[in-house]
Formats: sequence, structure tokens, C-alpha cells
Amino acid sequence: MTTALPTAMRLLVSGGASGIGFAVARLAVERGARVVLLDRDAPRLQACIAELGELRAAALPLVCDVTDSPAVKAAVNHAAQWLGGLDALVNSAGVDSLKPLEQTDDDEWARTLAVNLTGPMLMCRAAMPHLRAAGGGSIVNIASGAGLRPLPNRTAYCATKAAVIMFGKALSIEAAADGIRVNAVCPGAIDTPLFRTSYENDSDPAGTLDRIRQRYALGRIAAPEEVAEAVLYLSGPGASYITGTALAVDGGRTFH
Ligand SMILES: NC(=O)c1ccc[n+]([C@@H]2O[C@H](COP(=O)([O-])OP(=O)(O)OC[C@H]3O[C@@H](n4cnc5c(N)ncnc54)[C@H](O)[C@@H]3O)[C@@H](O)[C@H]2O)c1
Repeated sequence: MTTALPTAMRLLVSGGASGIGFAVARLAVERGARVVLLDRDAPRLQACIAELGELRAAALPLVCDVTDSPAVKAAVNHAAQWLGGLDALVNSAGVDSLKPLEQTDDDEWARTLAVNLTGPMLMCRAAMPHLRAAGGGSIVNIASGAGLRPLPNRTAYCATKAAVIMFGKALSIEAAADGIRVNAVCPGAIDTPLFRTSYENDSDPAGTLDRIRQRYALGRIAAPEEVAEAVLYLSGPGASYITGTALAVDGGRTFH
């Protein structure tokens, strides 16, 4: 299925320099959208823009740390100005935290909350006036299957992902009056740099990867584009009556 996007949809994607965020940005540009890719990783942002080839004129790279409140406000305003308004926001910037609680120090706990929970909040708060001015729009927060069903040695990560799901549900109620829909997408195991760190440094990477696969009814790891399809569906007019949901795109881990 190809998700139809409104002509020249104006989209802002955080975490746009890698993995799921870049897959969303690339698919959107290929389907006629104009996209701002926001990320803290300047070199990767430039590499992503280069990867867009002839479509690069439809994309703007913006270096910003989503935990920096004044910087986020300035970046979102700049994005909306470049785009000529804002129709959709996708919050994909995120970090993993894979260790037992007793080895999770205060800094790691705070950093995980700052990027995965405060970051989306800051982005949403800065984007809402622009979405309202456009007559309504969409926010998609990339949460995780780990926000629906726990994983071992990931208390900080699971807590932030469950929190961002509920954050979006609560926001969807107050944003509805302005025609702004707020949804979450909860990916399973997606082949990205973030996912690879969860097994690559293991003593038995192949065995760990196999055990991860077995958690999923479909028995495989997905490509970032498979998540991007769901994100663009929720961002576009085809999902006009959908708000406050958490859509699992996880090959069937969280339902069984
Ligand atoms: N890959 C998976 O298996 C998986 C599964 C479930 C959920 N997720 C979620 O999907 C989202 C995207 O993950 P991914 O797998 O594409 O990871 P990724 O590491 O490939 O991409 C994440 C991007 O976020 C950026 N980022 C991190 N901290 C930032 C900050 N403070 N400010 C700005 N940018 C920042 C990174 O530079 C990177 O470009 C994350 O929220 C992640 O938790 C991923």
C-alpha cells in the first residue's frame, strides 16, 4: 500500500539523520512532501541530505538537540518558516539504555528521560502553534513496543516509552479542538544503528539476534521503511479520524 500524502505536505522529523527518522523523511520526500530533518548529529544529517540525491531541494537539515528547550523552540520556528507552515511533526529522536537498574547511574537515567520524554514534549509544545495556524495537523511520537510490554534490563527505556505513549494520549485530548491529532507508533525490532548496539557488542551476537527474533510472531527483524509506512499513514489525511492511539508495528511481540 502506498500512503497518499497531501500535495507538498510540510513535515518536521526529529532524529531525521538515522534509522526510522530518516526512513520517514526519505519516504515522505519521495511522495512529494517537503521535510525538515532535525538531529543533533550534523555530519550524519549532511550525509542523509546527500543520499536524497535529486530530491534534496525538498529537504532542510537542522542541527538541534531535542533536550535544549530554547534551541528546540528556535529550530521549530525556523523549520516552519522554511516550510511555509507545518502540517505534521514526527518525534523519532531517541536513545536506548540497556543495563540493569543498579548499574544505571543518575546521569544515564536523566539523559534517557531527557531525550525520550522531555524531547518529544519540547518539540510538541513548540510545534503546536504552527500546526494550529495550519488549521490542524498531526503529531506522531515514535515510542516502542517496550512501552507496551517490558523488556529485561531496560527500566529507564521502558519507562520513557510508556510515558511518551500516555503523554500523547493526554495531549490528543487537549489538541483535538485545534484539529491536531496525536498518535504513537510502537516499533518492534527494527534494523537501525540503535537496534544494532543491543546485540553487536555481545559475546554471541548471532545467538542474541536469534533470541530477539524469537520474541516476534513474524520471526524477523524489520526494515525502518516498514515503520515509516505506518508513520506516514498516521500523519496523512487517511488517518483523519485517528487520534490518541498507540499503533504497534512490531511483527507481533506485544499481543502475545
Ligand atoms: N530500532 C528499533 O528497534 C526501535 C524499536 C523501538 C523503538 N525505537 C525508537 O525509534 C526511534 C528512532 O530510533 P532508531 O532505531 O531509528 O535509532 P537511530 O539511533 O538510528 O536514530 C536516532 C536518531 O536520534 C538522534 N538523536 C538522539 N538523541 C538526540 C537528541 N538529544 N537531539 C536530537 N537528536 C537526537 C540520533 O542522532 C539519531 O540520528 C527512537 O525513539 C527509538 O527509541 C527503535
